[in-house]
Parts: sequence; C-alpha cells; structure tokens
Amino acid sequence: MPVRLFLSSGDLVADRRFEFARDLQLKGDLAAAADLLEQATDLAPGFASAWFTLGEIRDELGERDAAIAAFQMARDADPEDRHGASLWLTLLGAEELSAMPSAYVRALFDQYAPKFESALVDDLGYRGPSLLFKAVLAARREIRKPAFFKRAIDLGCGTGLAACAFAREVDHFIGIDLSPRMIEKARACGIYAELEVADMLQGLRGKPDASADLILAADAMVYVADLIPVLQEARRVLVTGGLVAFTVETHGGEGVIIGEGLRYAHAASYVRAVLESAGLALSQFEDLSARNEDNSPVPGLVAVAAKP
Ligand SMILES: C[S@@+](CC[C@H](N)C(=O)[O-])C[C@H]1O[C@@H](n2cnc3c(N)ncnc32)[C@H](O)[C@@H]1O
Repeated sequence: MPVRLFLSSGDLVADRRFEFARDLQLKGDLAAAADLLEQATDLAPGFASAWFTLGEIRDELGERDAAIAAFQMARDADPEDRHGASLWLTLLGAEELSAMPSAYVRALFDQYAPKFESALVDDLGYRGPSLLFKAVLAARREIRKPAFFKRAIDLGCGTGLAACAFAREVDHFIGIDLSPRMIEKARACGIYAELEVADMLQGLRGKPDASADLILAADAMVYVADLIPVLQEARRVLVTGGLVAFTVETHGGEGVIIGEGLRYAHAASYVRAVLESAGLALSQFEDLSARNEDNSPVPGLVAVAAKP
C-alpha cells in the first residue's frame, strides 16, 4: 500500500535529516540514506519513523541483524507500534508470529481511507465482495433457502464495499472497523444501520447471542492471525443456520504465516480446522483470489460456514 506513516521526532533538525534520507532512499542511495538516519536517531533517540525506515533500508541492504536492531528500536520508541515494526521482526524471523498491532492497522487504514476504493478496486482488481456474495448465494441454494438476511454484521467493513454487494439481501447492516476514517466513509455510503469503531472481536463480544443471520469479513481476516476467537464469537452471535463468510490469503504450507505484504496467510488446512473447532459447519470452500499483486492473483480462499 503506497501510504507511509510519519511521526515527527519533535526535533526540527532530526526531522529534516529524515526528509533528506527519504529523498536519498527513493533515489536508491541507500548507504547515504542510512547514514543520515543514523544521524537523525543520534539527535532524537526516540524517533520511531527514522528507526523504522532505517530497518527497511538495512533489510534492503541485506544487513539482517542491523535491520532487526532498528526495528526493535522503532517499536521501543513507539510501543503502540504504529509503523508495524513487530510485523517486520516476525518476517525477519526474529520473533514468533503474533497479533497485528491495532494501532498499526488503524494508522494504515486512516491514511489509506481517502484513496482506498480506487487503489484497491482499480489498481489491485479487488473482488472480495462479489466472491463472498456468490459463495453465500451458493450456500443458501444448497439448502434451498432464499438468500435474504434480516441482520448482518460486516467485520472490518472498511468503506462499505461488501455491504454494497449484499445491500438488497440484508435488512439491517452493522459495520465494525478499527479505523475511524474508514468508518466515516462507510457512514457516507448510507447502507449501514449501525457502525462501530472497534476491533472485530470486541465488537462481536458486545452483540447478544443469536442476533445475526450473516457475518461477513471481506479481506479483513488477513489482518487477524488467530481466527479461533473471532469464529467462536461469530458462532455465538449467529442464529442457528446463520452463515459466516470470509476471504483469506493462503499459502501452500501449514498454519499461519506473515507474507511480504505484511498480511497474514492462512493455510487451507488451518481454516478447515479452526472452523471445525469453533463448531461451524463448512458449506463452501474454494481457492479464489480476492486481489492481485504485481499483476498476479494473490492465492486466496473463500469460506462460508453455518452454525448447525
Ligand atoms: C482491506 S480492508 C477491506 C474493507 C472491506 N471489508 C472491503 O471489502 O472493502 C480491511 C479493513 O479491515 C479493517 N480491520 C483490520 N483488522 C481489523 C480488526 N481486528 N478489527 C476491525 N477491523 C479491522 C481495516 O481497518 C480495514 O478497514
């Protein structure tokens, strides 16, 4: 995603060195950029953006240990980890896979919100909502029930693209998203009856038992490492026969990994196992890609499961 977080150091000279360093980085002079960033962090040791950028540059230069040290400094300087340094530490094998920092997701999508739809739909050929819609229709057809839902919850609703795809089939849509700016956009689309700025798990926890017929997550589980708590909560909130439908990115191995794009990829065997352990019955499960990267489809899965 072409957005970049900048947190000022509060020191004018250090901030200026950072700007020069970014120019040099963009021009490809990585060694000179790293040198300037070292100077910036000497002046302002708590300069998270400089440490984070230094980590990226050290990684690009093939200096793994120095990259790890810089990413650790970035996280120490900003314990909320708005840059997502911990994701890099996982990618570099320095730390175990862990949950994505909420502050990182919020900062990323708050910055991304104004151009989200054009970037995702036009540039990355995003098709998550239509894939989910077709899969949900197929799930209902299989049990000869109409695809009509009184109450639906859209997890990681973003600007409302998934709700748009389902708008005619749902009476009352609730959207939940971590990013206030994405929620503002969702409000403007006028489809949701209720919108909440919250983590999806916390949002679901606030819902009564058996209060939703459909729960969607389009391109949102890619920001959730452990799917079990969310799926268990989804089961509690669904009525009997209600559906949960979501997309994930996937990989050929086992379990959950973090990819180069700093999103999680869930193995097919993992998704099947967590649905089963959450007490949900798989209805549709297909290898389908929700978006492209570098003009190729990113391997993905679309899953629809029912509460028995
Ligand atoms: C790629 S966007 C997809 C948005 C929308 N579902 C769509 O199909 O266009 C992912 C969204 O998930 C939200 N998100 C990621 N992790 C979340 C979490 N744990 N709880 C709530 N929202 C989350 C992000 O803020 C972002 O708006």
